[in-house]
Amino acid sequence: MTPTSTLPPGSGLQVVPTLPSRELRAGAALPFSAYERLAPEELDARIAAARADLGKELLLLCHHYQQDDVYRFADLTGDSFRLARLAAERTDVRWIVFCGVHFMAESADVLTGPEQTVILPDMAAGCSMADMADRSSVETAWNELTELGLADAVMPVTYMNSAADLKAFCGERGGIVCTSSNADAVLRWSFERKRQVLFFPDQHLGRNTGRKMGIGLEEMALWNPAEEYGGNDPQALRSARLLLWKGHCSVHQIFQPQHVDYFRAEVPGVRILVHPECRMEVVDKADLVGSTEFIIRTVTEAEPGSRWAIGTEVHLVHRLRDSFPDREVHFLSPTVCMCSTMYRIDPEHLLWVLENLREGCVVNRIRVPDETARWARVALQRMLEVR
Ligand code: 13P
Ligand code: SF4
Repeated sequence: MTPTSTLPPGSGLQVVPTLPSRELRAGAALPFSAYERLAPEELDARIAAARADLGKELLLLCHHYQQDDVYRFADLTGDSFRLARLAAERTDVRWIVFCGVHFMAESADVLTGPEQTVILPDMAAGCSMADMADRSSVETAWNELTELGLADAVMPVTYMNSAADLKAFCGERGGIVCTSSNADAVLRWSFERKRQVLFFPDQHLGRNTGRKMGIGLEEMALWNPAEEYGGNDPQALRSARLLLWKGHCSVHQIFQPQHVDYFRAEVPGVRILVHPECRMEVVDKADLVGSTEFIIRTVTEAEPGSRWAIGTEVHLVHRLRDSFPDREVHFLSPTVCMCSTMYRIDPEHLLWVLENLREGCVVNRIRVPDETARWARVALQRMLEVR
């Protein structure tokens, strides 16, 4: 029995009955409309109660960009790399409610066992950068590289921020996944095996990491999927070492080099700390660059009185500011830009999936098809083994 009658229209919702030990409610999932106008105190109390009832079978994972009203309910938090590792390690839990975005929940599903269920509270929590590369345009690029006789020398590397079928694409071709915390180790691993790398979908992470490894801009080519050969001269493609897909994160493009200049002029002793999805001109001016986990560790270990201007998603920056009142933490832009898709995971959706689960109904299950999962797992496992 798969109840469908009360699904919110256009939500992309999947309702899947759970394992038999919890009885299915007669006929339907609890509708989301019942959660839309609840007071914050009631949401909090009911989330806490549902979690307690679900006990140790439930693991609530949260990415650092989540809003505080959700983040405080996390069992474990992390950047995309740590969350992938945690999902792979926690074979003891039955349900993983993933408060992050779609590609992260997909990776968790790929890395967990068949008896484990991954739930994304709102299916609309996607990632605009991940959407900038799809399987058919990457296959077209690969076919063009094959036609030029280059593909055999190219390692396909996908950023974690990509759909599972692109991870599978890499897995099938000897390629690998990377995150912002291991991109340099993964690129080193790749260049030990192949002469060139096709890196998608984030040009900035690829460019920043390549430069850190000593690869010059003249050895990189930008691949625009809307054009033949990515808009490149075949000769330029032959000599390039790093082929960078033309994708980006709009949240991190908000930071500009003049913002760095402004903070350096106005806040004596400030240190600039940015995520590697920022443009190269910002990264070049920064003091420190790293993943969300690195950013947290850096501020946590910093001395009281230290001053920071941080270029990453605003919920994380504000949480750091509030957690360390004896450090001065600024957001590195006059314009506040949050990740609107991460923000879709709100207490209402969290409560909705938890209470449904308690009633024996799984809503918003993330399920990667078996064949895709098999090859995506190969690419993710390669990443987890890279040191
Ligand atoms: P992390 O790998 O630092 O978690 O970043 C993921 C992300 O989506 C950043 O925009
Ligand atoms: Fe995607 Fe950017 Fe949001 Fe990260 S911050 S999930 S890259 S849109």
